[in-house]
Amino acid sequence: MTKKGYGSVLWFTGLSGSGKTTTAQAVEKKLRERGRRVELLDGDELRATVCKGLGFSMEDRFENVRRIAYIANLLSRNGVDVLVSAISPYAAMRESAKQQIPSFVEIYVKCPLHVCEMRDVKGLYAKARAGEIQHFTGISDPYEEPVNPDITLCTSSNTLEQNVQIVLAWLEQAASVV
Ligand code: PPS
Ligand code: MG
Repeated sequence: MTKKGYGSVLWFTGLSGSGKTTTAQAVEKKLRERGRRVELLDGDELRATVCKGLGFSMEDRFENVRRIAYIANLLSRNGVDVLVSAISPYAAMRESAKQQIPSFVEIYVKCPLHVCEMRDVKGLYAKARAGEIQHFTGISDPYEEPVNPDITLCTSSNTLEQNVQIVLAWLEQAASVV
């Protein structure tokens, strides 16, 4: 839920290629248009900067998510809405972020593995299947589906616009925007 004075932390979790970044960017745009102060923390981007050097072992993923949650909380408590797009594959790491962040909103970006694999936007699934990438989420590493997310967005059956509207409607009913 949200806390007074805090920005919402919209935490998009899901498989690689499920649509986390795309959906978060579209929501970010809408929130900016509404005059909100917004920051997007994307796994790929952070791994090139503050999380540089971290790999994809369970330990490194926990450390990656720990750093992201820390930054998200700093921004949130200063009234900034934060969109996080990171696979964050373990329930325990999401739970830990939730405990730390008073305005944490878990958004499950749901898409069947075979659809993500068919999309293979970055060609990573093909490499993972060929054994060129180890510990690849969904192929050779786990993804623990959220059991009780605040929001579930199906990206194989809904349009991007529909999913953006679902998030905005949720925020409105939570009285955190407009
Ligand atoms: S995590 O699990 O939350 O720490 O991962 P995250 O920081 O979101 O980074 C995921 C992006 O890294 C690329 N990539 C991989 N993903 C999963 N497993 C392996 N082994 C891997 N290697 C590289 C990939 O581009 C992910 O981005 P998305 O946007 O999820 O496709
Ligand atoms: Mg992405």
